[in-house]
Amino acid sequence: MSVHTLDLGQDPAADARALRDAFGCFTTGVTVVTTLRDGAPAGFTANSFTSISLDPPLALISIGLTASCRPALEASGVFVVNVLHVGQEALARQFTRKAGDRFEGLTPETWHTGAPVLPGCMGNFECRVDTAFDAGDHRVFIGHILKVRHDAAHEPLVFLRGGYRKVHTD
Ligand SMILES: Cc1cc2nc3c(=O)[nH]c(=O)nc-3n(C[C@H](O)[C@H](O)[C@H](O)COP(=O)(O)O)c2cc1C
Repeated sequence: MSVHTLDLGQDPAADARALRDAFGCFTTGVTVVTTLRDGAPAGFTANSFTSISLDPPLALISIGLTASCRPALEASGVFVVNVLHVGQEALARQFTRKAGDRFEGLTPETWHTGAPVLPGCMGNFECRVDTAFDAGDHRVFIGHILKVRHDAAHEPLVFLRGGYRKVHTD
């Protein structure tokens, strides 16, 4: 059967599974969020990116409280959202690596804040943290956008039901 319905609050393991599956049916783009850790590049793959406001220009990301980049985002107060295209699945995987240099093979640019801007992406949003607050097991960062770049010549990399997918946008 393909339809699953669950009242939450009885079995934590069942809740987690159902939430993961239900959240996973919402199709998203894929980004790499970059920041600075003691002045050095840091980053992680994220699909929590959401546009918030045009005036003022605001965007949102959220990060797990225990994730390695959380203290770096907090301390530096800057981040870049790099929107990946369909040819960048390997990059998405690279930025979930537990060991090794996530920036291997990359030559990031810097704009206003010094946070790494990944070249060749579909879009880049350079942000300074405007507001941050905890929400459950994540911390939400709302960024004031300082600079953007976008390249309409690419198809997006998308994420659905736990897997990377491609779509045709025409
Ligand atoms: C497609 C995709 C989207 C993700 N989105 C987020 C996200 O929005 N926030 C987050 O904290 N982790 C997200 N993750 C997990 C992170 O990339 C990373 O693995 C996790 O934060 C642990 O980071 P750490 O190894 O640096 O501690 C996502 C992973 C994938 C594969």
